Amino acid sequence: MKTYVLNGVNLGRLGTRQTDVYGLTSYATLAASCVQWGKEVGLDVECRQTDAEHELVQWLHQAADEHAPVVLNPGAWSHYSYAIRDACAILTAPLVEVHLSNIHAREEFRHHSVVSAVATGVICGLGVDGYRLALSHIAIRLN
Ligand code: DQA
Repeated sequence: MKTYVLNGVNLGRLGTRQTDVYGLTSYATLAASCVQWGKEVGLDVECRQTDAEHELVQWLHQAADEHAPVVLNPGAWSHYSYAIRDACAILTAPLVEVHLSNIHAREEFRHHSVVSAVATGVICGLGVDGYRLALSHIAIRLN
C-alpha cells in the first residue's frame, strides 16, 4: 500500500518562496526526503504537489479508494477549502495535516484550518521535519 504525501497550492515553490518563513529546502529535495524517510520506517511513499484544487480532490479520492494513509499540506487551501475538507473526510486511514510554518503565530486568517477537524492529527511550525514526524507516526499506527 502507498502512503501519499500530498502538497497543495504554491508548495512547488519551496526553496525560493519566502525562505524566511518556509526555509531553503526545495520541493524536489523535500519530495526525495519523504520517499527516503518513508523507506526508513517501512512505508512506500509517493509525494505529489499541485496548484489545481480539483486535482488534489481527485488524489484524495484515490487515497480513499485505496484506504491509504495521507500526509497533507494543503497550503492556503487549508484556510478556506471546504472541498478539500470534504474529500479528507472520506479517508479511512490516518491523515496527518502538516504545515511548515507555525500558522498560529502568523496572520489571523492562517490560524484556522478547515481541514484540521477531519485530520487524525496536525503538525505545524517544525519545517520539513514535520513531514518526517508525520511519516514515522503513520508507520507506528499501521503496525
Ligand atoms: C503553509 C501555511 C499556509 O498558511 C500557507 O498558505 C502555505 C503553507 C505551511 O506549510 O506553513 O502555503 O501550509
